[in-house]
Amino acid sequence: MTIDRVQKLRKAMNDAGIEALLISSPYNRTYISGFTGSAGLVLLTHEKSWFLTDFRYRVQAAQQVHGFDMVEYGAEPMESVRELLTERGVGKLAFEQEHVTYGQYLSWTSVLAGISLQPVSSLVEELRMYKDESELTIMAEAAELADRTFAHITGLIRPGMKELDIALEMEVFMRSHGATSSSFDTIVASGERSALPHGVASSRIVGTNEFVKLDFGALYNGYCSDITRTVVVGKSTDKHREIYNIVLEAQLHALEHIKPGMTGREADALARDVIAKYGYGDSFGHGTGHGLGMEVHESPRLSKMSDTVLQPGMVVTVEPGIYIPGFGGVRIEDDIVLTDSGISVLTSSPKDLIILG
Ligand code: GLY
Ligand code: MN
Repeated sequence: MTIDRVQKLRKAMNDAGIEALLISSPYNRTYISGFTGSAGLVLLTHEKSWFLTDFRYRVQAAQQVHGFDMVEYGAEPMESVRELLTERGVGKLAFEQEHVTYGQYLSWTSVLAGISLQPVSSLVEELRMYKDESELTIMAEAAELADRTFAHITGLIRPGMKELDIALEMEVFMRSHGATSSSFDTIVASGERSALPHGVASSRIVGTNEFVKLDFGALYNGYCSDITRTVVVGKSTDKHREIYNIVLEAQLHALEHIKPGMTGREADALARDVIAKYGYGDSFGHGTGHGLGMEVHESPRLSKMSDTVLQPGMVVTVEPGIYIPGFGGVRIEDDIVLTDSGISVLTSSPKDLIILG
């Protein structure tokens, strides 16, 4: 699997005129090498693949990394990189510009004396946008675990519960059913707090006749799910139902029409135009969705700014919302895979307005 990824990366290196590439960022390093530890470097030329790490990971790297020459570095990893490149007469090293601090850059420049540094952007991230069958299988399981978590928590939420306790129960459920952790800090935002798009759980006590917005996901076998559902605790008012139904219509419209070949901007507009039609355009201030995978936010984006063309194999969220300060907010989010003919939806929790308590 990683051999296949290395081949694709070499093609991208070739297209970009790169002789040698250093991958230092943790997600990209794991994606290319299979290594899940916290310290290591992938170094590629067109002929050679090295995995460099330190003594602590000697055994783990041997177990996880295949098809690479292994190098154990000492106190200064870049000295080993310099030796490997110098032995082969390589004078230029590409590095991941989004993942290297200025401090590292200065230090590398000094240790790599004689080898120039070439910043490059998103080579591995572009490969990661396209999920293979094994990744899609894991992501379907991660989504299914999120669905089971939603079913579990809706059986428990009552007025008088603290948001943090709801989030804790969800975390315990996910972890006791195979998740390593949640994909991100669980959002449990009740009442007026539901108008906060990213209102992570607080000490607020859930009241009655109010929204509770739940946005969460499971990190499962290295991949994230990300789902949002909004429920009402107590009785729903006309305003609750009005907002909820608009967001639902926008989300369903987007799911019905998203297809490969569309840009991220066009996909975003599918949901945005429905919300704007009802006069709530100003209350939907974030993108309609984002790529999902090893990280909860990846490329491509479904946003007004995105020219990326959606292609089969990409996994994205579809998550329109309306947020009204002082009243509350609604978001409905599913995870989808772009297929040859359209989409397949990974999350399947119910979307009719659920009334609890
Ligand atoms: N579910 C959190 C987010 O998409 O930002
Ligand atoms: Mn999301």
